[in-house]
Amino acid sequence: MTEAFRIPAEVDLVFEGRQLSLLIQSVTDYAIYMLDPEGHVRSWNAGGHRIKGYQHDEIVGQHFSRFYVPEDVERGLPMKGLETARREGKYEAEGWRLRKDGSRFRASVVIDPIWQHGELVGYAKVTRDITERYEAGLRLQDAQKALVQSQKIEAIGKLTFGLAHDFNNLLTVVINSLDLISMRPGADARTLQLVDTAMRAADRGALLTRQLLSFARGQNLVAERHNLNNLLSHSIELYRRTCGPTVEFVLDLGADMPEVLVDAAQFEASMMNLVANSRDAMPRGGRISISTHLANRAAPDDPNGISRDYVCVGVADNGVGMPADVVERAIEPFYTTKEVGKGSGLGLSQVFGFASQSGGFATLESRENEGTVIHVCLPRIQD
Ligand SMILES: Nc1ncnc2c1ncn2[C@@H]1O[C@H](COP(=O)(O)OP(=O)(O)O)[C@@H](O)[C@H]1O
Ligand SMILES: [Mg+2]
Repeated sequence: MTEAFRIPAEVDLVFEGRQLSLLIQSVTDYAIYMLDPEGHVRSWNAGGHRIKGYQHDEIVGQHFSRFYVPEDVERGLPMKGLETARREGKYEAEGWRLRKDGSRFRASVVIDPIWQHGELVGYAKVTRDITERYEAGLRLQDAQKALVQSQKIEAIGKLTFGLAHDFNNLLTVVINSLDLISMRPGADARTLQLVDTAMRAADRGALLTRQLLSFARGQNLVAERHNLNNLLSHSIELYRRTCGPTVEFVLDLGADMPEVLVDAAQFEASMMNLVANSRDAMPRGGRISISTHLANRAAPDDPNGISRDYVCVGVADNGVGMPADVVERAIEPFYTTKEVGKGSGLGLSQVFGFASQSGGFATLESRENEGTVIHVCLPRIQD
């Protein structure tokens, strides 16, 4: 011992010891305890009681591994901690620990060996409950990830908008020219058939650019009063064509539907998206039905749960359905399970975005091998 650490002769060691013990007892944010060389608890302070929930008598004499979660005990972590402290003079770690009631908390742990005359007499162990800090850190990480993700989406949005806009102009020229060709007198049947095929492909391209545009600009809605039954009846041929010949198409409109405020073009695009999805889910044919009904209910994301009248359009199919992990992600922009060229992953994101921007909401129910129903619900106009 150097001169500086020599204890002055006049210090009352017993008194100092009591002071120290009082000090340790009054610390409640840290669990401080003494272990014997094998790891049994010899004594502990009030912080130990506060953090872990045991009474003094319940824990003194017990092995300290009971504070560890079973996985860590299995890995021999408690004894490894003691060995490291003995060998290296200190052990520091962070991990999950157990309270008496079985709940877990995030702990920061320091273990120091105590030597007396060159012999190991035990360990001092200090544990701090850092659950709050740990969870705040996780939340921060999540928030950062979400921010990066939204910046990425914004950048993709800008790029998409520029491309889709130019592409849309090109398609307009293609479609107009095809129209003109088909109207020219003297065109033979084979030519008309080719024109028709080209027209259908151009229509698909136009739908795609509409999806891209509405994704990119978050949609500029031009809402007007409409009866959804009328809009649906008006486009029935379009939906039937989209279904193709192997799929039965049923329109089941409820009587006396009130009007809603809606952008007719976006509504049609969303119906086209849903019908196209249903058709893709039924490669061997099946049945698609579009129905309307009036519902008095609360929007699923309304925190106050206030009910109001909605005109709901359901698009149902008995196709392949979605497994749970697809249901989870289906409405994310660019999420698709289809091969390149078949899917853009923008259909459902348009439908759900359109519904909520129109003051309503959309819901998705799907079961693997059974089918899918999507509802688009728009609020009835309050007079
Ligand atoms: N009616 C449906 N039946 C089964 N799966 C569907 C249906 N509608 C959507 N999905 C699933 O959700 C995914 C995302 O759909 P969507 O956003 O329209 O993008 P895309 O159709 O371009 O893939 C699809 O790839 C598909 O896996
Ligand atoms: Mg789609």
